[in-house]
Amino acid sequence: MTSDPFHPVQRPRRLRTSPGLRRLVSETRLHPADLILPVFVGEGLKDPRPIQSMPGVVQHCRSSLVDALQEAAALGVGGVMVFGIPLKKDAMGSGAVDPNGILSQAIRWSVEASRGLPIIADLCLDEYTDHGHCGVLDRAGRVDNDATLRQYAAMGNVLAEAGASVLGMSGMMDGQIAAVRSSLDAAGHYDTSLLAYAAKYASAFYGPFREAVQSSLVGDRLTYQQDPANAREAEREVALDVAEGADIVMVKPALSFLDVVARTKATTSVPVAAYVVSGEYSMVEAAAAAGVIDRQRAIEELLTSVSRAGADLIVTYWASQVAGWLHPCWRPEQFGGRFS
Ligand code: PBG
Repeated sequence: MTSDPFHPVQRPRRLRTSPGLRRLVSETRLHPADLILPVFVGEGLKDPRPIQSMPGVVQHCRSSLVDALQEAAALGVGGVMVFGIPLKKDAMGSGAVDPNGILSQAIRWSVEASRGLPIIADLCLDEYTDHGHCGVLDRAGRVDNDATLRQYAAMGNVLAEAGASVLGMSGMMDGQIAAVRSSLDAAGHYDTSLLAYAAKYASAFYGPFREAVQSSLVGDRLTYQQDPANAREAEREVALDVAEGADIVMVKPALSFLDVVARTKATTSVPVAAYVVSGEYSMVEAAAAAGVIDRQRAIEELLTSVSRAGADLIVTYWASQVAGWLHPCWRPEQFGGRFS
C-alpha cells in the first residue's frame, strides 16, 4: 500500500458517515429497562409538593405516586426506588421500623400500582432521625455502627413484609449487608434482594436530596461515607458487601466516580448500579434553564457515559423522561426518521 500522507488509508470517519452506520457501530445503548426511577413520598400529603432544589421532581402524595409508577411501567423503566419522608422524626428513627410508617405504606401503594415493576425500598435511617444521621448515635453523639445494624435488621423485615422486592442499603454501616441478610432469612424472606450502596462517597452532590427529604442533618457523614479521594478502598467495600451477600452493588454518585464504576465492573460479577444523584441532576437542569447546554443531549451523553463506564443499572431522576425518548428503543425517529 502506497503511503500518501494526503490520502489516509485509516479513516475512522468512514463509520460515521450516516446515521444508520453510526447506530450500527454504537458500542453503548441506553435502554429503559436498565433505568431505575427514584421517587419521594411525603407522609400526609394531599397533593404533590415541588422540590425547589430539583426542578421537575416532587414529593409525591399517594395519587401522584400511583400516576408516576404507572407511567414508568408503561414506558418500560426497569425499577422504582422509593424514599419516605415522615412527618415526625426522633433519635432512633422509629418511623423507619413502623409497619404503618410512610415508607411501608408507600411500598404497598407502589407494589399495587407498579404492574410487577421491581420496587426497591431505601433502607436507611436518615429521613427518620431528628439528628439526620444514617444511624443511631451513642452517648458521645457518634454514629453507633453496631446499634444501627439492629435497627436496619428490623427495618429490612418491615420493608420486605410491605412487599419490597429489593432493599437499597444506603447507610454505609459496616456489616449492614450481613446483618440484614441474616434477619431477612430468619424471617423467611429468602428472595428479598439486597442492593448494596457499596461505594458511597461523602459527596457535595447530595445537597438537593437533603432538601427533598427535609433532612435535619447538621454536620457531615465523613465518618461513614467514603472519602472522594479513595478508589482502591471502594474495591474493599465492594468485596466485603459481595461476601456478605449483596445481590447488586452500587457506586454513588455516578458522574464524579466513573472510574470507580469501571473498576467495580472489572472486579465483581454481580450487577453494578450507579446513582446519578440529586446535585448531578440539578446541575444539568440549572445549566439547561440558563440556556447554556442542550438539555436532552446533555442528559443522554451523561447517562451514556455511566453505561459506558460499566454500569448495568442506572438510578436517575430522569428515568421516565429518558425512557420516553428511547421508547421503543429501535424507533427510527431517533435517527431523524432516516437510516441513511
Ligand atoms: C441516604 C441517601 C442519600 C441519598 C440517597 N440516600 C443522601 C445522603 O447520603 O446524604 C442521596 C441521593 C441523591 O442525592 O440523589 N439515605
